[in-house]
Amino acid sequence: MSNLANIDLTDPRFKANPYPIYDQLRAQTPVVRISIGFGYKAWLVTRYEDVVFTLKDQRFTKDVYKAPKRGFFRKEMLFAWMFGPFVKHMLNADEPDHTRLRGLVQKAFTARFVESLQPRIESLSEELLDRIAAQGHMDLMRDFALPLPVTVITEMLGVPAADRGRFVGWITTILDTGIGPQSLKMLPLISKFKRYVRELMQLRRRQPENDLISALVVAEEAGDKLSEAELMAMIFLLLIAGYETTVNLIGNGMLALLDHPAELEKLRTQPAIMPSAVEELLRYDGPLEIASQRYALCDIEIAGTMIPRGHMLAPGLTSANRDPRQFEQPNGLNLTREPNRHVGLGQGIHYCLGAPLARLEAQIAFAALLRRLPEIRLAVPRNSIRWRSSLVIRGLQELPIAFRTSAAVRGATKTF
Ligand code: HEM
Repeated sequence: MSNLANIDLTDPRFKANPYPIYDQLRAQTPVVRISIGFGYKAWLVTRYEDVVFTLKDQRFTKDVYKAPKRGFFRKEMLFAWMFGPFVKHMLNADEPDHTRLRGLVQKAFTARFVESLQPRIESLSEELLDRIAAQGHMDLMRDFALPLPVTVITEMLGVPAADRGRFVGWITTILDTGIGPQSLKMLPLISKFKRYVRELMQLRRRQPENDLISALVVAEEAGDKLSEAELMAMIFLLLIAGYETTVNLIGNGMLALLDHPAELEKLRTQPAIMPSAVEELLRYDGPLEIASQRYALCDIEIAGTMIPRGHMLAPGLTSANRDPRQFEQPNGLNLTREPNRHVGLGQGIHYCLGAPLARLEAQIAFAALLRRLPEIRLAVPRNSIRWRSSLVIRGLQELPIAFRTSAAVRGATKTF
């Protein structure tokens, strides 16, 4: 118990099984002040009800510049200087800017528009599996879970295929380096990234295509809708949000299924339960440990703890999704769980913009994997699986799997 305040959300050993610690926190210290690196501290909120409150209550601002400062102003300025135009996006905005920014891209992420992408996502997923079908083994992360959503979001945005590998490497390094003195090492990388996005914007100004960057460039040129900094930040957010999470839903989800062979078999034999299965995989081991930071605009009490004005909060999504006050048998995987009001995609005004796309990609991915890779199993001992050391992301470094090759052939596409 005395060590609970010392938990390190980035420690891969914690990531491997954070659940007993979250059980203790929810029972004993539901709101706990933890270090998140570089001298920063945040209040980690662990109970479902309190996490929903923190995500929805407008007395928590998303805009660090509105937060009453508490002695970390110089560090904030350093980050503002380092990350420059990447911070002015909807996830860091309160109303009314939030509605304006979200409104500019909302149409491309509605369920109806996203449905039109289904044939493309299905064919991509088949192509990726065609490449490894005869091998009998693969690293699911590298060979499938990563390239699928990266290709989808870069095609939607209009990033040329030849550049995808480069910027995925940049984003992974930036996200995994985290906050701390080590983040200074990222400066050259960040400027490369900025230069790249600027060039891409210029290219789309000259040669518009039927993609999101071209549409956003038009909105920027219209004057009052979008500044250049906001445009750049929007592209950065959509790129990161568009694949980092989905990759890990596929990875964590497949590991959860492999850990629960009866549920895996149920999904293979009853593909109609796929939509509810994806919701349960989002709940059981979702891709985000915590939601993005909030700052208290005034003193606010949560679960008996007074959060002083200006302090930072980290809403614990992973913990909330295993709260026994909300979910029956929270540590069990039940692919037909009903109801399932998980917070894996957030809540309130910042509820995931890409939720319909994430759901569709995951449904197509799991359907294809289970149909085309019979007798799928881990190719390494379970205890050798390593987790990424990231504050926000819950994801695997790699997921080596093996499968029977003879039946790994193309089949019907529509399976759910
Ligand atoms: C399984 C995959 C995904 C998960 C688990 C996920 C999760 C989340 C969560 C929890 C939030 C709220 C964060 C907060 O309140 O601090 C969020 C917001 C957001 N997500 Fe996702 N996401 C996923 C996929 C996607 C995809 C594919 C996109 C497409 C671009 C996307 C775009 C966004 C954007 C733009 C926001 C900010 C919305 C706003 O501020 O209004 N996400 N996501």
